[in-house]
Amino acid sequence: MQIHETAFAVSTYRSYHEDISKDIYAKIWNNSATDALIPNILNNVSKYEAILHSLRNRFFYERMNSFFEENNGGTLINFGSGFSMYQFSFRNNVSTIEIDKKDIIDYKKEKVDRWTIEGKLPNRNIQYIAIDFNDSSTEKIVELLGPMIEKEPTFILIEGVFFFLDRNTTNKLCNVFAALQKPGDRLGCVTYLPEVENTKVYQRLLHYFDSNNATNDSFNHQTIPHSYFSDIKEYTIKEYTDEFELSKIFAPKSGISDKDEVLNETLYLLEKT
Ligand SMILES: C[S@@+](CC[C@H](N)C(=O)[O-])C[C@H]1O[C@@H](n2cnc3c(N)ncnc32)[C@H](O)[C@@H]1O
Repeated sequence: MQIHETAFAVSTYRSYHEDISKDIYAKIWNNSATDALIPNILNNVSKYEAILHSLRNRFFYERMNSFFEENNGGTLINFGSGFSMYQFSFRNNVSTIEIDKKDIIDYKKEKVDRWTIEGKLPNRNIQYIAIDFNDSSTEKIVELLGPMIEKEPTFILIEGVFFFLDRNTTNKLCNVFAALQKPGDRLGCVTYLPEVENTKVYQRLLHYFDSNNATNDSFNHQTIPHSYFSDIKEYTIKEYTDEFELSKIFAPKSGISDKDEVLNETLYLLEKT
């Protein structure tokens, strides 16, 4: 599986459960190649993957929307943005900076620009920048992104990305976040906790990636402990939860009854001190 395919899969999952994800724009990215991949994942890894990704979207949608409502707008800086579409559901006083690998950024910009002209998407202030997090230094990333922030406060989001990075790159990005943000700004991030590695469903995920390995697209399988987030000195944890807990609130009829049966990611909301 190539990394851009994971981004398409997440977007398609959100489109399956609009009532949960609250993302009415995700379906615009649906395509037959991704539709062909998904049954294999749902059958061989976990049938709850689509609901879980929709819950993750719902959590960040709610938290970002209330942050921007309280602050009369601001800037969403989305690291590894893939095909996420939050900005179209926010009011147009929110600007967005989308950061991802070049092929994704080029493709997304071209499509979004065209769909906006055609009236399929509302007009939003979006800037795009291609950065590979593995290849650029902290200083370089800060130098590129700093001047792009036109409106404060900022909400940095990095979801579905740490899993694919190693710890050095993760540390580097946390330094980037601290350099870009001011006190009171927010950081939303997602990880698998190390204890998830012991679950059968996580082992099935690794097996799926191993047996569908893309020749030219290597990535890591990182898990991060809770202490990593509580120890980031420039941030305090405002809230954390996981998708199993969110399922009880936003998808009570999902049939999810056991935390260890789902690929349970933990979601953090941090505040810059
Ligand atoms: C599973 S997708 C998640 C996309 C989006 N955040 C979402 O939740 O819909 C992972 C994204 O991380 C991006 N990504 C992974 N490694 C990266 C790197 N080294 N540099 C930049 N982007 C990266 C991928 O290109 C992809 O868009």
